[in-house]
Amino acid sequence: MGLVGSSGKGWKTAATGLAVLIVIVLQVLGLGVGWPQEFTPPQIDEEFAKQEKIYRSQDADVPSGYVTNRGLSDYLDLLPSGFCDALGSLGSSDRWLDIGAGSGQAILDYYAPEDVAAPDKKCAGAGGKVRAVAMSIEDRRTDKWQQHAARLGDDRIRYLTGKRLRHYSPEEVGKFQIITDVYGGFSYTEDLSVFLETVLRLLDINGAFYTIVQNVHLEGGKDDPSNGYQQTELVDAGGHGVKVCSWLKKTTCAKVVCESKSDWDPPSELINIRKVCSDVSVTRTKLLHYHAGNPPGRRFQLEP
Ligand SMILES: C[S@@+](CC[C@H](N)C(=O)[O-])C[C@H]1O[C@@H](n2cnc3c(N)ncnc32)[C@H](O)[C@@H]1O
Repeated sequence: MGLVGSSGKGWKTAATGLAVLIVIVLQVLGLGVGWPQEFTPPQIDEEFAKQEKIYRSQDADVPSGYVTNRGLSDYLDLLPSGFCDALGSLGSSDRWLDIGAGSGQAILDYYAPEDVAAPDKKCAGAGGKVRAVAMSIEDRRTDKWQQHAARLGDDRIRYLTGKRLRHYSPEEVGKFQIITDVYGGFSYTEDLSVFLETVLRLLDINGAFYTIVQNVHLEGGKDDPSNGYQQTELVDAGGHGVKVCSWLKKTTCAKVVCESKSDWDPPSELINIRKVCSDVSVTRTKLLHYHAGNPPGRRFQLEP
């Protein structure tokens, strides 16, 4: 049989092969094209499958870099400086969403009685503890979580699992005054702009998103964006590097503050985004490259 068989399947295979070839040639020529929206190259599909295995891994199979049990004190170390005060300023009818919560340990620490975890700052103000929602693709709830949840009741702490952030409707999850993400969806998603748009949609006006992303071209970095290892890389339509914070700052109705930690290992950008009005619009990103990992390596192209 020749390269193009007479069956529909043969034509489809040949067309896919041709599309891959065209994209590779254009990329080699530096023309900066992305994958057509409806087409995911087979290599990326393989990486998605590997990433799925990481999410589903249990016990000894969990890769050592895939940490799912960071506590509140780790969150305080890793998130922008205002996070603890912001959480402490909320009252008992306010809500906190932790995207990519893993086992939900940070929420358990926040809810622990004062005498337990005593030396840690609990970020709980005088207004009573906020209602907290943990979200994770895979269910990493521990017995400890189940016991706390049974004691506190579903309206105080909830655990959402089984799908990604972008697959929840606003009606399912409601609105939040604080959203956190410590090596969760922001570092792992294959659709960065939709992820950010969903976060902003779920925030109340004046609500804030706190996150961290490692090995990116730092806002405070003096180096050339094309130099050095970038785990999450953004490029414009011409293939030139764009800083994550520069992209974030194009978002309407969002006040973005970045704290660059160039001396951290790995170098990291701590990000605080406050929603200041409702007409949010995020510059679209298109996935060019995805390499499974903890977190994955990703390359996105900004759409004009
Ligand atoms: C490395 S763990 C981090 C867990 C926790 N934040 C910690 O620091 O221990 C990554 C978490 O992000 C979740 N995750 C990744 N992408 C996500 C997405 N798009 N939506 C919701 N959760 C996501 C995973 O399911 C997992 O719970």
